[in-house]
Amino acid sequence: MRGTLLAIGFLAVATATKNPNCTDGLYMIVARGTGEPAAASKDGLYPENSGSPGYLAQLIAAQIKDSSIMGVEYAATLNDYVQSENDGANVMLQLANEYHSSCPGSKMALLGYSQGAQLVSDVLCGGAGGDFNHNAPLSPDVVKNSGQCLLFFRESAQADLDLVIAAVLFGDPTHIANTTYDRGTSVHNGIFSRTNNTVCKKYTDRMTSWCDKGDRFCDAGHVDAVHGLYLQRYNSTMVQYVVERWQNLTAFSATATVTSTSSRSSGGSTSTKTASPTNSESSRPSTGIASGLTLPGWPLVLLSCGIFFI
Ligand SMILES: *[C@@H]1O[C@H](CO)[C@@H](O)[C@H](O)[C@H]1NC(C)=O
Ligand SMILES: *[C@@H]1O[C@H](CO)[C@@H](O)[C@H](O)[C@H]1NC(C)=O
Ligand SMILES: *[C@@H]1O[C@H](CO)[C@@H](O)[C@H](O)[C@H]1NC(C)=O
Ligand SMILES: *[C@@H]1O[C@H](CO)[C@@H](O)[C@H](O)[C@H]1NC(C)=O
Ligand SMILES: *[C@@H]1O[C@H](CO)[C@@H](O)[C@H](O)[C@H]1NC(C)=O
Repeated sequence: MRGTLLAIGFLAVATATKNPNCTDGLYMIVARGTGEPAAASKDGLYPENSGSPGYLAQLIAAQIKDSSIMGVEYAATLNDYVQSENDGANVMLQLANEYHSSCPGSKMALLGYSQGAQLVSDVLCGGAGGDFNHNAPLSPDVVKNSGQCLLFFRESAQADLDLVIAAVLFGDPTHIANTTYDRGTSVHNGIFSRTNNTVCKKYTDRMTSWCDKGDRFCDAGHVDAVHGLYLQRYNSTMVQYVVERWQNLTAFSATATVTSTSSRSSGGSTSTKTASPTNSESSRPSTGIASGLTLPGWPLVLLSCGIFFI
């Protein structure tokens, strides 16, 4: 019975990962800011359609094996900002949904600067409304899959499968001051501050919105330079955030696997790339899952989700 389950599971995962468009690492969907060129940077700083957040994406990709970067193709213009923003948000939403359906269980991150940050917030939290996009937010199942796994394994109550593991916004004109996911020195709302952040607040564990005081757009301030200083000021912190999210969430699988296989001989078979040394087992909420099962806990949870997806 166990054997059969496992076999079905491995088959499911094998099938799910066969799509060459799916990456084992992090899939980053990146939206450039207003006026940033769509062409890749000649000096290799950022890839096509990605602008300055593409710079972050490349730094992240250097630390997370097999990652890939997908720039959002949109006008990123000020001429018809509302149209540009609406179109961009829809493209980004579609990219996330497509990746999720072609590559179930794969992890994504959303990065955006300025207008591109507004795209990210629309995708994650739903359109800001008013003149702007009224799009529904990314389905919660695409951000964080939990329910489906529970159907198979009640023990895995905490074994959520995080899909959109991180969002990094900087200079977002829809910024709301003093939220739990805010970063930087701003205490003012942006020029197009969203009125409803009910959905954003659900993603405080995976969303960071950087805004500094004086920024004309996210802080409704009066200091021109500030809007262009985020990379200089925070690039390593932003990169670190995403990499740490990845490590925390993938370290779980290493921990779970090691825990559950330790009763046999060694736990050396895991191919998980990143087991963060900063995470002690006791800090993982989920070790109990693995030890509660006699089979390798995490792979099974993953596989059961894999089965369900297909
Ligand atoms: C991979 O992506 C390309 C380009 O988007 C698409 O045409 C192709 O159908 C995809 N392949 C699979 C197997 O999904
Ligand atoms: C945010 O908090 C600061 C400090 O408490 C306060 O001065 C500021 O008015 C708040 N901003 C908004 C938009 O509520
Ligand atoms: C804010 O958005 C949430 C989620 O879409 C919705 O349930 C709620 O009614 C909205 N609140 C207001 C005041 O519009
Ligand atoms: C990124 O941050 C480092 C310092 O941590 C800095 O030297 C570098 O210039 C920054 N990159 C950009 C593009 O600002
Ligand atoms: C990673 O996990 C550690 C330990 O639980 C936690 O303190 C830290 O905030 C997490 N990092 C991120 C970026 O979520």
